[in-house]
Amino acid sequence: MSANVLRITLVMCVGVMMTDSQSLRKKIYMTVPQLISSAGYPVEKHRAKTPDGYILQLHRIPAGRRTARRSGSPNAKGKKAVLIVHGLLGSSSDFVIMGPERSLGFILADAGYDVWLGNLRGNVHTSHQTLKRNNPEFWAYSFHEHGKYDAPAMIDKVLNMTGLEKVFYIGYSMGTTTFFTMMAQRPEYNDKVIAFVALAPAVYLDNMRFLANFLLKTVNLSSTMRARGMLSLAFEPGTLDFVVSSFCATRNPDADMCMRLVFSIVGEDYEQNDWDMMPVILSRFQPASWGQLEHFGKIAITGVFTSWEDGLWGAVKPYNLSNVAVPVSLFYGENDQLTEKSQVLRLAAELNSTGVLESLQPGCSCPKFNHLDFVFAKDVGNLINKPLVKHINMLIKKYDKD
Ligand SMILES: *[C@@H]1O[C@H](CO)[C@@H](O)[C@H](O)[C@H]1NC(C)=O
Ligand SMILES: *[C@@H]1O[C@H](CO)[C@@H](O)[C@H](O)[C@H]1NC(C)=O
Ligand SMILES: *[C@@H]1O[C@H](CO)[C@@H](O)[C@H](O)[C@H]1NC(C)=O
Ligand SMILES: *[C@@H]1O[C@H](CO)[C@@H](O)[C@H](O)[C@H]1NC(C)=O
Repeated sequence: MSANVLRITLVMCVGVMMTDSQSLRKKIYMTVPQLISSAGYPVEKHRAKTPDGYILQLHRIPAGRRTARRSGSPNAKGKKAVLIVHGLLGSSSDFVIMGPERSLGFILADAGYDVWLGNLRGNVHTSHQTLKRNNPEFWAYSFHEHGKYDAPAMIDKVLNMTGLEKVFYIGYSMGTTTFFTMMAQRPEYNDKVIAFVALAPAVYLDNMRFLANFLLKTVNLSSTMRARGMLSLAFEPGTLDFVVSSFCATRNPDADMCMRLVFSIVGEDYEQNDWDMMPVILSRFQPASWGQLEHFGKIAITGVFTSWEDGLWGAVKPYNLSNVAVPVSLFYGENDQLTEKSQVLRLAAELNSTGVLESLQPGCSCPKFNHLDFVFAKDVGNLINKPLVKHINMLIKKYDKD
């Protein structure tokens, strides 16, 4: 009885939301190529194959809106290629979802870059040659494999398709972890990268030690879930959409439960929270393997940027950050509680000691700037992405000798 009442109430809430913003709600279910072409940009799909059988879709925006309108069949001849790699629970979607005025993928394309949006194994744009997604083997990976196989395969694909010798790499959060684990394991990829921009880099996570210990040791979360047959930390898009539209709809910081929960992990920033977009963003969250979470947990618990072959409680084997040989620009959030400033400073000191630190700065001189703001801030276009394009222009001039 009471369950039914609750259900009816929830359905009514969703109904109200739907009539409120039909077109926004469509964005929850659009594919990334649909998002790109409906914004007026050319789009291409490419597939990178990893040596261990994963197939990763790359979404390419070879030209900006104006070029596309003018020339009909845009191409990327003579352009510099930029590969953007997403974070945990993310996908290529994160760099177009806020639209042409705000999202990095579009802004870079309009600035004359050949934009490649990567996808790391596990998200909806990836598959495996033989393993189905309901096979536990499909999920037996961490960002160790993202770095060892996925990023190299994507870089090679970009270079092969463009004929260029080097690509510019931008990573956000776990997309930066991927970069560092790549260079530690496959330093020859330094020769294929012009420079690296790291947004909210996730390398040291001492600030998450308590949470990691609690979830992985006390609650035994990943082992218990695995034992119960839950293959990954996954969200059914329909369910997520339903929950999010029901509980994330108050639009009032005093009554809000949903964003408060999110903010408890990434840092609170109601100022830059886009209430219209949040249901879309949260509903598009992608699965993560338990191995990814355990690996981050191991780093948080040990305080070492360690490999994970021996498992969560196994031997600690530091990744060799001295293998990074390309210029690295680090951007942190003043109020990022996940990849905290103090932890980024520690990484900066290490990269500085080997001479590869190009710059270290706040993504925005905004005291509330949190982890998600790097991609989803209400004003992310002006606060982050437009200045970032200038920074990238400068780096290309300085380091690309083509
Ligand atoms: C791309 O890969 C194909 C197949 O391996 C190869 O034949 C071609 O020469 C490559 N192109 C470039 C520009 O590397
Ligand atoms: C964690 O859960 C797994 C699977 O249920 C179990 O085998 C293991 O003993 C548990 N570990 C601890 C420390 O409770
Ligand atoms: C780490 O890499 C650097 C540069 O590639 C090398 O000189 C150093 O010996 C390596 N350190 C370890 C512990 O392997
Ligand atoms: C990097 O090292 C140089 C020389 O040791 C020092 O002057 C500079 O302040 C350092 N930069 C950072 C961000 O640590």
